Amino acid sequence: MQHIIWYPGHELILKDIVRAENCHLYDSRGRRFVDLESGVWCTSVGHANPRILRVIAEQSARIAHTGFGYSNGIVEDAARGILSLLGFQNGKCVFLCSGSEAVEYGVRTAQSILRKPLLMTMMDSYFGAYGSASRKEEREWFCFDWTACAACPYTGECDGRCEHWSSIPFDKIGGFLFEPGSSSGLVRFPPDKLIRELAAAVKGNQGLLIINEVTTGIGRTGAWFGYQHYGLSPDIVALGKGLGNGYPVSVTAFAPAVIERLGGEPVKYAQSHQDDPLGAAVAWEVVKVIQEEGLIERGRGIAAGLLSELEGIKERTGCIREIRARGLMVALEMKDNADASFTINIHRELVRRGYVLGRRPGINVLRLDPSLTIDQQDIEEFLEVFEAVLSDTAGGGQEMDPSSF
Ligand SMILES: Cc1ncc(COP(=O)(O)O)c(C=O)c1O
Repeated sequence: MQHIIWYPGHELILKDIVRAENCHLYDSRGRRFVDLESGVWCTSVGHANPRILRVIAEQSARIAHTGFGYSNGIVEDAARGILSLLGFQNGKCVFLCSGSEAVEYGVRTAQSILRKPLLMTMMDSYFGAYGSASRKEEREWFCFDWTACAACPYTGECDGRCEHWSSIPFDKIGGFLFEPGSSSGLVRFPPDKLIRELAAAVKGNQGLLIINEVTTGIGRTGAWFGYQHYGLSPDIVALGKGLGNGYPVSVTAFAPAVIERLGGEPVKYAQSHQDDPLGAAVAWEVVKVIQEEGLIERGRGIAAGLLSELEGIKERTGCIREIRARGLMVALEMKDNADASFTINIHRELVRRGYVLGRRPGINVLRLDPSLTIDQQDIEEFLEVFEAVLSDTAGGGQEMDPSSF
């Protein structure tokens, strides 16, 4: 692995995974690991899902990629299906290659028609690796710190009596980019009331509501989309990750009113794999698998059992400070030192015992974002091992060496 530039800060622990099936990863020695984070939250319907494999083979054999002057019917079929899921039947969408790109496309489009100069967003949101939303420069963005709102007891309407609300320059805000829950992988959910009132204030001024569903979309939170938990009506939606089940495809979707406001002038943006048939076919098949196999309800059921068991482990071990979850998007904030060494050790020991969880470098949070197709038995076995690892590791223990795996 000496010639690979790996994700900065992240620890490459398992260097020899040779095969995967649903939530199981196998290394060259035949050892099995349970993938509880779906790669990078991507394999929504499981690694090597047979229906997705079949569509990849069949669409590749027909036509995978097209040029600027020709297309294939699957792209329109997939667009229609995804738009109807969003309630944008007369809208339009574009197929792209990553979540970052889908957000950036939505932001550039919004910026091309905004009636006021700034986009608002929450301070702790992550939108991708590049573009305006990753830089969040002051001349383009107002970033709202909602920390104080999390514990606000006031039940009346937010207004100018509150210093936090008054700090928002609504007269300069032309749109609100909201990411409903991942919060840079820490899984924090801003209060419903706050989000509904922010969205209403921006939309009331003819502003645009852009929703980043890259992590929260496609069933992850127990609904098709994270914004549904807030009762919002978005104008632009970015989808990625789980939409491709590991294949790099993303979508930016626009409500009919936005298309009208664009007046037939989409943003000037083109890349070689835009609207490729292969990506569109994969995305459409993922949606159909989730629909036809009832995976959102299934995920909700698995999540309910998982959460109640995790609460029990929290009580019994005293090692977990807080559990934050919505559907199968779960964060466990551990009681730890500033260097997060306990969390690191727990993470490594779980990998050693066959369980791969999400962990951000230097942060005392472990994440579970398994596929909607995960077997109940995998969850039950994990819970048993997790409790044992917490009990064994609590109170110190030695720094573990990941190279020994
Ligand atoms: C909330 C959120 N938005 C956007 C992105 C960017 O997606 P991608 O990494 O596919 O470019 C990520 C990536 O982790 C994310 O967590």
